[in-house]
Amino acid sequence: MSAEIPPPYTALQRHPMMAQADHDEASRFNFLTQFNRYLSGDLGKGNWLAYENRVLPAFEAIHGRSPENREEIRVAMNQDPWHRTWSALKRNSMEMRQQNGRQIVLRQLDELDAKAKAYNEASDLLELDPSVEQPLYVTCVDIHCQPGSYHTEERPGDVAVAANYDVGLFATTGGALGSLNDGGGQAVVGWIKENCLDWSPERVLDVGCTVGHNAVPIAQGFPEAEVIGIDTAAPVLRYGAARAASLGVSNIKFVQASGEDLSRFPDNHFDWVQTTMFLHETSASAMPRILSECHRVLKPGGLLLHVEQPQYGPDMPRFEQFLRDWDAYNNNEPFWSAMHGVDLKAVIEEAGFPLEEQFVTGVRAIPDKTLFPGSPDGDKEDYGRAAIWNAYGAWKPKVSNEIAKEISA
Ligand SMILES: C[S@@+](CC[C@H](N)C(=O)[O-])C[C@H]1O[C@@H](n2cnc3c(N)ncnc32)[C@H](O)[C@@H]1O
Repeated sequence: MSAEIPPPYTALQRHPMMAQADHDEASRFNFLTQFNRYLSGDLGKGNWLAYENRVLPAFEAIHGRSPENREEIRVAMNQDPWHRTWSALKRNSMEMRQQNGRQIVLRQLDELDAKAKAYNEASDLLELDPSVEQPLYVTCVDIHCQPGSYHTEERPGDVAVAANYDVGLFATTGGALGSLNDGGGQAVVGWIKENCLDWSPERVLDVGCTVGHNAVPIAQGFPEAEVIGIDTAAPVLRYGAARAASLGVSNIKFVQASGEDLSRFPDNHFDWVQTTMFLHETSASAMPRILSECHRVLKPGGLLLHVEQPQYGPDMPRFEQFLRDWDAYNNNEPFWSAMHGVDLKAVIEEAGFPLEEQFVTGVRAIPDKTLFPGSPDGDKEDYGRAAIWNAYGAWKPKVSNEIAKEISA
């Protein structure tokens, strides 16, 4: 299989909770996987040509200067016929992915709900708390065109949105996350084992865990640890707990709670607090609250790690920032642009982690090359979606900031 060709949908690992696609539904996902690759690869290059050859010269003729920021590029590019066509196709690919996933799930929802219930009754991995409120930043929009976001129930107690999320992630990532969609978590575990020799966390918290794609590999990578994944949305927790149980993982719990209020956990409780592709779906006012709660529940010497797409720093070309921003304006990701534009290090510092304890490192998702020989190694970046991430990390100082200041005074 050529490295350029994404793996077939049929290579997706069939864990027992995964909704089953029939021939036509699998073909649709195969089409969408190839189509997405084509859009981000060959057709995506046309955006740069349009910018260089038409949009930039026209902008310069009018303004007597080049665009100063990604917003100016976006407004100018949105007039360009190539970019408009590309953008419409890309938006449609997201809608088609959601509708295909939803169709697959709804026709077998009785079976999926019954399976989730059976797994969850037989295991001790799920703890729901109906008093947890859904944040406005989750309910205000169908995030990345996902009907019902993460929290909506098709009927009380169901798993529909979660099953749809799981069944279609393959199509948007081209298989780059591996056969269980868990390559990001595997990569994080690999990074920890390589960089934190002899460190073995006893308690791990994953905030915004969704169905556990990245919390489960942490539990598998550190079988002695107790891993807790929290999320505000009940359907993803029901599905995530059942999925973990079906994979034979028992050192993890899926708990309904908000990262803004971790009061159910004492101070200095966790060795490691992880978030993966989470912060960009929170609001500017919620993110500092979440980070300071993460700081409070971390033990001194504990690790905070956020896996996200790279922030828009001064080193990132403005055209690349514009491309990365596509999801914010066209794919219902309303917080994406502002979150990627903030000085994340300063926000993390404000939450209590001194700059000298912070670091940024690269994490590349690990696909299973035996099942996905054609899976990309990351050179074909699909900006908002591809599996090349940055990890923004910080160690909580072993002595509190106040004591450190007293000592140095
Ligand atoms: C993009 S998904 C994160 C993906 C996930 N971390 C993974 O590894 O697959 C964002 C998740 O955060 C959850 N969420 C949003 N706000 C939250 C909050 N304040 N506390 C906990 N979970 C939250 C959403 O319900 C959703 O499941």
